[in-house]
Amino acid sequence: MNPRERILVTGATSGIGLAVVETLLGRGARVVAVGRRTETLAELTVRYPDQLEPLRASLTDGAEVRFIVPRALEGGPLHGFVSAAGVAHHEGLGSISERTLREQFEVNTFAPMRLGEELVTKLEPGSGMVFIASTLAHKPIATSYVYSASKAALLSVVRSLASAGAPRNVRVNAVTPGVVDTPMIRAPREGEGTTEAVAKRMRSLAAIHPLGRIGNAEEVARAIVQLLETPWTTGAELVIDGGLALA
Ligand SMILES: NC(=O)c1ccc[n+]([C@@H]2O[C@H](COP(=O)([O-])OP(=O)(O)OC[C@H]3O[C@@H](n4cnc5c(N)ncnc54)[C@H](OP(=O)(O)O)[C@@H]3O)[C@@H](O)[C@H]2O)c1
Repeated sequence: MNPRERILVTGATSGIGLAVVETLLGRGARVVAVGRRTETLAELTVRYPDQLEPLRASLTDGAEVRFIVPRALEGGPLHGFVSAAGVAHHEGLGSISERTLREQFEVNTFAPMRLGEELVTKLEPGSGMVFIASTLAHKPIATSYVYSASKAALLSVVRSLASAGAPRNVRVNAVTPGVVDTPMIRAPREGEGTTEAVAKRMRSLAAIHPLGRIGNAEEVARAIVQLLETPWTTGAELVIDGGLALA
């Protein structure tokens, strides 16, 4: 990674996005870090004053989404984009609220669509974009009704953007993780009153992966950064799922 490169990362305040930020910073890049948690953004800025540019924005707010790319470009050219922000609500059919339905599509699909659409013409030629999908896009379960649909749509977005970006040598790819140990997965679900209930779910999630464990954010982040830099790959989906697709 060229130390002068600036990469825009959403979901920079937690889990896989935060691991991407730390991997990029460790390789000398500058990062424009997008999230809502001002405290986490401030902590990162203190730790990496020369490399990190915080950009607070909510991806459910269309006006704030439209502001992200122009604001990021004020600091100089952009050489990459990682769309890591995401939200998952597991709810039974018939009890899905309008709020969670909209939130999942706004954060997981609509904001990445708008950011990708703008960046495909504004990233420097030779840049890469990586969007995080999910194995649940291919293997939905009943309670992932909305989340799975939002990520399946995202995979289609990646292919359109890859076609649009190719003439400018802007590459657009997806990573499709299995279950990864992050706050998203550890958040208690409906009916999980105790930490033991969460731990039990984590053990059963580990067991469904042929490699016998769930992933960690750092190994997914490494794959994302590698894909960002791979010069002759576009419109591709890198599955990083402990073999879950085989199961
Ligand atoms: N963990 C898994 O098992 C797994 C598996 C497959 C795919 N994924 C995908 O991987 C990506 C990262 O997930 P994770 O597990 O790392 O989740 P996480 O730890 O919960 O982090 C989610 C990130 O999304 C951001 N975000 C959520 N809502 C937002 C909003 N309205 N506006 C702006 N930012 C928002 C959060 O930032 P703020 O709270 O600061 O806004 C946070 O940085 C997501 O796209 C997720 O769908 C995760």
